[in-house]
Amino acid sequence: MTYVVTEACIKCKYMDCVEVCPVDCFYEGENMLVIHPDECIDCGVCEPECPPEAIVPDNDAEGEKWLELNREYSETWPNIARKGEAPADADQYRDESGKYEKYFSAEPGEGS
Ligand code: SF4
Ligand code: F3S
Repeated sequence: MTYVVTEACIKCKYMDCVEVCPVDCFYEGENMLVIHPDECIDCGVCEPECPPEAIVPDNDAEGEKWLELNREYSETWPNIARKGEAPADADQYRDESGKYEKYFSAEPGEGS
């Protein structure tokens, strides 16, 4: 089992999750983060920290859908270990659905 980041993170990217992860297994894309499934130790501490509730276990029906995306992009995007600044308009996208189709970007973020 692992925790995964779902599309709810897209364009929100608050990064509170990064602050608490004991093994630094988050990776940064241009407008979302993903978790490396083989590095996550399933501690669960990041889950309640995410404002739009984008982090779920992969054995949950929603989580299962995002596992492959987390695996794929955690192999190519840079590691992020320090919280940066969330986008200025992050709150605007918090409750929006269907964000993957509308906004997903495969471009890497800057990492830290
Ligand atoms: Fe990191 Fe724990 Fe969250 Fe996995 S569950 S990403 S180890 S904080
Ligand atoms: Fe994304 Fe939530 Fe972390 S919005 S960056 S998964 S705190």
